[in-house]
Amino acid sequence: MQTRDARHVTWHHSQVTPDRRAERLGQRGAAVWLTGLSGSGKSTVAMALERRLVEAGRFAYVLDGDNVRHGLCGDLGFGEADRRENIRRVGHVARLFVDAGAIVAAAFISPFRSDRDAVRALLAPGQFFEVHVATPLEVCETRDPKGLYRRARAGEIADFTGISSPYEPPLAAEITLDTGTRSIGECVDAVLERLVTAGILAR
Ligand code: ADX
Repeated sequence: MQTRDARHVTWHHSQVTPDRRAERLGQRGAAVWLTGLSGSGKSTVAMALERRLVEAGRFAYVLDGDNVRHGLCGDLGFGEADRRENIRRVGHVARLFVDAGAIVAAAFISPFRSDRDAVRALLAPGQFFEVHVATPLEVCETRDPKGLYRRARAGEIADFTGISSPYEPPLAAEITLDTGTRSIGECVDAVLERLVTAGILAR
């Protein structure tokens, strides 16, 4: 669908180079892609990371599954095709933010490896940091912050990730976090440290 309409559309090049933008912003754009089960802590880590970065004067923004599904992806459900389309769309949005120089904290279950790899491929090498929020299913289910696991177990919600729909864990995530055993602050520290080491942020 997207290629058919793109055939007669040209690309306008910015007069601002990536280096110039990075110099003005004091950072390089990057996507911190948090993937994991519902209730694993993706959104909590993403929000805390955004707050820490913004308080430090950096340009950061959260893209969150629950939030974009109210608007941009409000027409999509949780079958495999819709989840793929969800990640395709938000991947392109993340790319635009990264082009704008932001550090994007993207919190999506994004259960399929190939979809996450496709987002990685949209970005330049070194701009995509896959963060596996690997909190075990039992912990997520015990937390059940939205009561969705209970409803999924009762058969009231179909295609629920980890219960009746698959989750493919990353094979080589840049960072692995378990919010069951580490505090949110420690998880944010680990991400920030990695961004500094990679030259996205100055120390
Ligand atoms: S994704 O699979 O397409 O990446 P996304 O991160 O956007 O999922 O949305 C997940 C959120 O939708 C969950 O945190 C949960 O609140 C809600 N949700 C509703 N139905 C489901 C379902 N069947 N499976 C998983 N999450 C669901």
